[in-house]
Amino acid sequence: MSNLKILRSDELTRQICVVVGTRPSLVKQSAVMRELTRQEIPFFLLHAGQHYSYELDGVFFRDLQIPEPRYRIETTPNYKYHGAQTAEMLRGIEEIMLEEKPKGVLVGGDANCNLAGALAARKLQVSLCHEEAGMRGYDWLVPEEHNRVMIDHISDYLFAPNEEARSNLEGEKVRGRIFVTGTPIVDSVEENLAIAREKSDILQRLRIQPDGYILLTMHREETVDYKEVLAELIEGVRRVAVGSGLPIVFPAHPRTVLRLGEFGLTETVDRIPGLTRIPPAGYFDFLTLLGNARLVMTESGGTIQESSILRVPCVTLSGYTEWHETERAGANLVSGQKAEQILAAAEEMLSRDRNWPNPFGKSGRAKAIADILGEKVLGG
Ligand code: UD1
Ligand code: UDP
Repeated sequence: MSNLKILRSDELTRQICVVVGTRPSLVKQSAVMRELTRQEIPFFLLHAGQHYSYELDGVFFRDLQIPEPRYRIETTPNYKYHGAQTAEMLRGIEEIMLEEKPKGVLVGGDANCNLAGALAARKLQVSLCHEEAGMRGYDWLVPEEHNRVMIDHISDYLFAPNEEARSNLEGEKVRGRIFVTGTPIVDSVEENLAIAREKSDILQRLRIQPDGYILLTMHREETVDYKEVLAELIEGVRRVAVGSGLPIVFPAHPRTVLRLGEFGLTETVDRIPGLTRIPPAGYFDFLTLLGNARLVMTESGGTIQESSILRVPCVTLSGYTEWHETERAGANLVSGQKAEQILAAAEEMLSRDRNWPNPFGKSGRAKAIADILGEKVLGG
């Protein structure tokens, strides 16, 4: 009997394990899963349980018509430390992999659930496939940057969104095979925009007009977990509200709501003239809010991409974005986190023409990824 703690290639089953766990992973992987289903490529869905509240999870299963996952890991809510959160998911995912023995594992992005899925696959010697490979922000203090680098260096198949990402991966001499596939968020937007227009009545409910408001989101640890940074950002938002005279809609992530409370900043936000704070929006409501906004201010990677695709000017409320093509296209300006920088960037973006070409190209990205999963990872 073997003492090896890996899965042997002859015991692997011809199926892909798609790992999700957070809101953005549901948005992106829904398009890939639709394509896997269309091509009859065997897969199963594993929810690592990082997000669990209905507004960050259940509503996306509803809007994007994602079938119930075969497995859902029950995680402990409100983790304080990345290690413990990642470890809990890793342990759960490993158990499921030992049960299912999939030939390939697909993770997408840079959240802790993806790192957990990646580590489980690597340790068991199952082919690991990473979407959004090669993206770099070059800020080593950011948890997502560690995750990206770690996942890329242990992946077998790297799905790079663009040539710059490919060149980053080549420069870092990763071991796996690199494919430039683009990002499936293009497909998610395209597949859902028309449905969102038909189904969402969020503009009426909030009594706002198309092109007559600013959309705001913020949730990154490096932004909202530091009182001084968060207070300065809020001051920047206040100046934009006063300067532009436009209403601001703010679907607030639970992490942000918590921190606002802890730092005594809730009232400061809620007193900004014209600002309406709402719970996190479902995908149809959010696409509608984003697509009709005059401007979006955010540090969400997914929202930065979607705003470029929908031709809505974006101010990135941090010191960097890894989505450089949005800046090059003229769709996005990285403001920094000082109030005067945020105001200046918002004024600049409010005055820009919105005629940039979509920097993420056409849909069909999910198909490119599914093709490789079917042909190369599962082998025909
Ligand atoms: C995570 C990802 C981030 C991604 C974001 C998408 C990491 C390191 N971060 O950040 O890259 O952009 O997801 O939204 O993986 N909470 C709830 N309900 C939930 C989930 C979280 O109330 O369903 C609250 C809890 O208090 C939790 C806090 O939000 O402690 C933070 O959640 P967590 O999953 O740790 O990180 P996110 O900020 O969501
Ligand atoms: N999103 C949403 N409702 C919201 C905020 C965001 O549906 O209230 C969607 C958004 O359209 C995008 C994704 O969630 O597709 C982005 O997720 P998030 O900002 O949580 O994470 P990030 O992209 O920064 O990792």
